[in-house]
Amino acid sequence: MNFTGGQFRYKYEIEPRTWSKKLHSVTEYFYFAGLISSKLLQIIYYKNGVKMMRGLIKYSLWVCLFGLSFGLVDYNSEIQPIFNSACTSCHGSSAGLDLSSYNNIMMGSNNGDVVIPYDHASSELWVRVNSGQMPPGNNDLTDEQVDLIAQWIDEGALEEPGSSSGCTDPEAYNCADDDSWENYIFDIGGTMYDNSCNWDWNLDVSEAEYVGGCESGPCVGYYNPGASTDDGSCRYYHAPHGNEVVFAAEDDGISIDWSAFIPPVNAVLESYHVQRCLEEGCSWMPGFGISPTEPPNTNTLLFDEFDWEAGVEIKYAIAVKYENNPYWGWAIGASYITPLWWPGDMNGDGGWNVLDIVALANCVLAANCGGIEGGLPADMNGDGNYNVLDIVALANCVLADNCGG
Ligand code: HEC
Repeated sequence: MNFTGGQFRYKYEIEPRTWSKKLHSVTEYFYFAGLISSKLLQIIYYKNGVKMMRGLIKYSLWVCLFGLSFGLVDYNSEIQPIFNSACTSCHGSSAGLDLSSYNNIMMGSNNGDVVIPYDHASSELWVRVNSGQMPPGNNDLTDEQVDLIAQWIDEGALEEPGSSSGCTDPEAYNCADDDSWENYIFDIGGTMYDNSCNWDWNLDVSEAEYVGGCESGPCVGYYNPGASTDDGSCRYYHAPHGNEVVFAAEDDGISIDWSAFIPPVNAVLESYHVQRCLEEGCSWMPGFGISPTEPPNTNTLLFDEFDWEAGVEIKYAIAVKYENNPYWGWAIGASYITPLWWPGDMNGDGGWNVLDIVALANCVLAANCGGIEGGLPADMNGDGNYNVLDIVALANCVLADNCGG
């Protein structure tokens, strides 16, 4: 596998036997999603916790954008007047620091830059006015003026608000979502895909470390709230997962259908790439692999011919290659399925009634319950045998209407 590309930092391998534990840590809850008609199966879907987290963060991003759209600071009418009235008497056209115009300010002082775009706390100019050191004496700037300077810097320290170009699609990777490392560092089969701007995956301690990449402006491909012209650089993280992925377990394999997944409107989707992960590790699905000789595949349905075991958790990772993403690892979603038998539902219709009792009685009499899909649905009491005790158990729960409960 090739893991190079853009800002991809680390590929972190965990011993395969530990990933199933990891898998549970991102699993918030599971729910019973229904039975596949004519199949004697119970399917438990796991919903990926990551998705729920995204939902919340989207909301805070919206709040953030709402604030910004009403607050872009205009340098010439709001910032330069502050410098003109409080600073230029000393920092005029002289050598050293010249605060008389935008270009002169951005040239910095003899000691270097005094304004670091997007990062007010590291900007010497802000540090000096915030501490009250500048202007000297007791004619400090007001709190509002100090905050306005901070806001102007954090918006990119532009001369014209929104005059720069960058990724203008808020749906793309963005710094607001990157507050939490779980959003942009993906764990697929024990391999960490680090697409984060603010975080670095520390290989020694297996933890994300905050490095604050967004403080010096959005990373390449990240949404830039200060940009007015789109430069076509947007990268996307959206991949099918959770209940956008519908599984159906069949005798000879599992079908995976992610046609419910809708990629972001502005994203150009090139291909899907699918892995099946078991405790031993992950393998690529034929037709959805990553070999450069495979033609790009945009189908949203796949049948994985595979001898699954009841009760064994399976994780499917679906990756999306978008036009601007350096490679498929920039958009990966994971979904889980645990195919199980549901005792007593002999005909697999999702209910328990007299038809099931008849089917069970028939196979017990014919001594061929073991031939029915592994025999598991017939083994009501789980003792490994199929006999009258199972029929009684089924009859009892049908009468009491509590089968499966
Ligand atoms: C009364 C004169 C005076 C005024 C008014 C004044 N400064 Fe200064 N400033 C100085 C002097 C002298 C220094 C150099 C000594 C020092 O670094 O403290 C300085 C240094 C600085 C530096 C550090 C430059 C560097 O990197 O070496 C910054 C930034 C600065 N001033 C910003 C401001 C701002 C912003 C204002 C207005 C809000 C302002 N100053 C108003 C006299 C002034």
